[in-house]
Amino acid sequence: MSKGTYYITTPIYYPSGNMTIGHTYTTVAADTMTRFKKMQGYDTYFLTGTDEHGQKIEKKAAETGVTPIAYVDRIVAETKELWKLMNIEYDDFIRTTEERHMEIVQKIFRQFHEQGDVYKAEYEGMYCTPCESFWTATQLVEKDGQKVCPDCGRPCQPMKEESYFFRMSKYQDWMIRYIEEHPDFIQPASRANEMINNFLKPGLQDLCVSRTSVKWGIPVDFDPKHTIYVWIDALSNYITALGYGTDHDDLFRKYWPADVHLVGKEIVRFHTIYWPIMLHALGLPLPKQVFGHGWLLFGADRMSKSKGNVVYPQPIVARYGVDALRYYLMREMPFGADGNYTNESFLTRTNADLANDLGNLVSRTVAMIEKYFGGVTPAWDPAASDAELDNPLREHCAALPALVEEQMNKLQFSQALIEIWKVIGECNKYIDATQPWVLGKDPEKRGRLGNVLLILAECIRFTAVLIGPVMPNTPARIFEQLGLTDETLKTWDSLDCFGRLPDGIRVKKGEALFPRIDVKKELEILSADPKAGGAAKPEEKKEEKQKKPEKKAHEEPEFPESITIDDFAKCKMQVARVLNCEKVEKSAKLLRFRLSFGADGERTILSGIAKFYDPATLIGKQVVAVTNLAPRKIAGEESQGMILSALDAGGNLRLMSVMDGVEDGAIIG
Ligand code: ME8
Ligand code: MG
Repeated sequence: MSKGTYYITTPIYYPSGNMTIGHTYTTVAADTMTRFKKMQGYDTYFLTGTDEHGQKIEKKAAETGVTPIAYVDRIVAETKELWKLMNIEYDDFIRTTEERHMEIVQKIFRQFHEQGDVYKAEYEGMYCTPCESFWTATQLVEKDGQKVCPDCGRPCQPMKEESYFFRMSKYQDWMIRYIEEHPDFIQPASRANEMINNFLKPGLQDLCVSRTSVKWGIPVDFDPKHTIYVWIDALSNYITALGYGTDHDDLFRKYWPADVHLVGKEIVRFHTIYWPIMLHALGLPLPKQVFGHGWLLFGADRMSKSKGNVVYPQPIVARYGVDALRYYLMREMPFGADGNYTNESFLTRTNADLANDLGNLVSRTVAMIEKYFGGVTPAWDPAASDAELDNPLREHCAALPALVEEQMNKLQFSQALIEIWKVIGECNKYIDATQPWVLGKDPEKRGRLGNVLLILAECIRFTAVLIGPVMPNTPARIFEQLGLTDETLKTWDSLDCFGRLPDGIRVKKGEALFPRIDVKKELEILSADPKAGGAAKPEEKKEEKQKKPEKKAHEEPEFPESITIDDFAKCKMQVARVLNCEKVEKSAKLLRFRLSFGADGERTILSGIAKFYDPATLIGKQVVAVTNLAPRKIAGEESQGMILSALDAGGNLRLMSVMDGVEDGAIIG
């Protein structure tokens, strides 16, 4: 019996180049969530796809000497291969070049025009070609005396053309109210404040929705020299894929509104302002939630195809398996926050959590059942319980499904995994506490030994079921070692009570689930593979070489004290807001700052500026901090970074701040 429907989407990605580990991140998250809901009995629908129109693709194709459609066909084929490799089970893959999509987008556009939501006017603005975004003068940011794109930091060009506009301004107040009245609509909640304060309250601009200069797109059918410009085209995919606006709209009627759109934080604005307004103008209900997750960073930068500093999943999957990578992606950083991808952190985590904690638990338990019970699970001996040792673990494990469900419903994948790993850790401690190898020496303790091993095996069964959505290949391997063939004991429903694992089943020791990795050796191998993120920013290095072809290796460097852009990128600096600031007792110099980095959380940093500031005056101010320094102890307290300041002419330290308010946690570079 179905518990209801669950519709989840990823962004439709630009097929301007191959998908990176960043695109894989969102797609794995959507797949994990779908599998979890499906396991619980929901009728799920998972949509992903590609956003194939626009100038960037047109240009890429021309550079490669092929037509745009030939270009995207190839990337789409490779994307589908990658999703197969990553064990992604989507229900539909929508391409914006498909007839089923284009036809309905034209119809939607026509309706907007007829309703007066879309009108024609002259457009003048600054345009960022790589991002395909128009910016108003106030949105541009200043860099090296140049006005640059606030998203990517590259220069913009003035541009003027006749365009259609969507009357977003008309819906501004409705939108503010909607967001305020639906606190779950935008997640994490900090992003809702950002939308209201940065985009809605200052006045929502009408959005340019057509181009005459771009040919690779969907024509406006009543004015064909115009092409529908990306966002109406792209966002509509979430409903065109369900057959909205056609006479076969069963999927739409069944699944809309979506339960959640997963998106990276850079496109939250489009999904939480423009898209809801478009839907409202169509008279349709809004998606229940838009979750803006953080970025996987590589060095201090967001990985992006247009910056060329990317890591691809294929070499990692080839060496360590898809489940290890899926686990890492879902576990390493809280969903919502940014995190750094490094091969080292991947390898270390795989060793610690998968090879050691999980892998050892399974192999030790199975080995002991083989050794002491001839490989057959013993019968439960009610007389041999030790309530003090057994009950905490049994109760904890029995409560685990609910704990995992609670975190999963908030899309807190890493928290859900942390809950599971707490039980795994407790099992390993339980082995140490019960000492089965001692029990095994005493024939009178046989009943006790059997109970201990049964409890462990049952905990492993729970674990195997619960990790399935994140690691779809691993449960079957664990069940095989447990000798569990009864399919009904591999389900979410079978976790309703602890102790269902039957006696008399034959366990079978198999290969290590996750063989231990020699981190040093593997790092060397990966560092030789640019696709695995080994060569830092390969594109940039290539460019450097091209710029100075005449320079020889033995020459003195031109600027002996200069550093490379890679050196600079090693230093991660972020804007932070002072939540609290107070003097450190027993120190004349130190102030203790509690800082908010927005979606990246909070930290405590000590700074030696007590002589120069009254702490109370700093609360609420924005400062700049280095956030990837190793934490260190100062005056017996841990400081998690460094706040930047400069000396003035009088020898006073003055704190650095930012000229125009930017989001807390914003990365400097
Ligand atoms: O923006 N870290 O497509 P896109 C985390 N076509 N997530 C990442 C990431 C990273 N380093 N890199 C990519 C577009 N992503 C539009 C969307 S939707 C109607 C149109 C993920 O190819 C993340 O989900 O630039 C991000 O939002 C998306 O890929 C951007 O993909
Ligand atoms: Mg993008």
